[in-house]
Amino acid sequence: MPLSVHFHDQRPQAAGRSLREEVLAGFAERPKTTPPKLFYDRRGSELFEQICRQPEYYPTRTEELILAHAAHDIAEIAGQDASLVELGSGASRKVRLLLEAMHPASYLGIDISEDFLRTSTQRLAADYPWLEVHAACADFSRPMSLPDGFGGEHPLAFFPGSSIGNFDPEEAQAFLANLHELLPEGGGLLIGVDLLKDREVLEAAYNDRAGVTAAFNLNLLERIRRELDSDIEPGTFVHRAFFNQADSRIEMHLVSDRAQDVEIEGERFHFTAGESLHTENSYKYSAESFRALAGRAGFCALALWTDPQALFSVHYLQRA
Ligand SMILES: C[S@@+](CC[C@H](N)C(=O)[O-])C[C@H]1O[C@@H](n2cnc3c(N)ncnc32)[C@H](O)[C@@H]1O
Repeated sequence: MPLSVHFHDQRPQAAGRSLREEVLAGFAERPKTTPPKLFYDRRGSELFEQICRQPEYYPTRTEELILAHAAHDIAEIAGQDASLVELGSGASRKVRLLLEAMHPASYLGIDISEDFLRTSTQRLAADYPWLEVHAACADFSRPMSLPDGFGGEHPLAFFPGSSIGNFDPEEAQAFLANLHELLPEGGGLLIGVDLLKDREVLEAAYNDRAGVTAAFNLNLLERIRRELDSDIEPGTFVHRAFFNQADSRIEMHLVSDRAQDVEIEGERFHFTAGESLHTENSYKYSAESFRALAGRAGFCALALWTDPQALFSVHYLQRA
């Protein structure tokens, strides 16, 4: 595999708080909460890829179906000289549909999961020898800048996977406002957003029968044991995911099956029996409510695609 990826280490400015800082701060909150970005070490990224293949997990295959249908329209709107910047690029798989339709000169993948980012972008560079591939390990919830040496003058930002749903609506608006700063005037943002739907379909997607989402959630505790000084026992916590209708979001929790004290980096935290650590929200939007949110962050809507069952949406937004 050729090592032809331009890797930009943005760590000092854009890495955000360390795992240790995030975990200690999150466990001290009431209720205990950790940000979803902590799921993604190499193992977490691999488990997410397995989630994408579960029959109950409709978002990935539905977004891919939408992109396959819309790719040529997207290429036309983006124009001939567009480059691609993917946020939370993960396996960089969906973007292949865009690369093939758009033939951009350059691609930049941004992800917090460094090892996985390196492997995925190297694979991309090997499969698309005509493409200049860049990668930057950065936290997209922090103010971002495009790395020096990334030549794309007309970047189209691509934010798939409904990762926008991991922010609450206020944070999502602030994130979009940050992206607004990053993009030049007239710059585009192609964003995948999961749609509101029946509780049964939503809850099944986050409680797959094979238990992969449960393993993904519990990997956070295994990661704490691997990377920090901690006696936390993942086996004493249970995965729980449910739809919170009032807030229009799926919530994921790790519930302690007993009263216990856990030690992390010399600090003790008490869990009562049944107490949960809140590990992820995944907000669901209607097409209209998401458009309104994007509008408040300074984006106007150019195009919208959904699937026949209205499970998922892909919006083409432009910096107004
Ligand atoms: C839900 S997965 C989506 C992966 C892929 N884009 C897809 O659509 O299948 C979220 C991706 O974003 C990355 N990620 C999560 N939080 C992040 C953050 N704060 N900064 C940068 N990357 C992040 C994860 O490592 C993971 O690759």
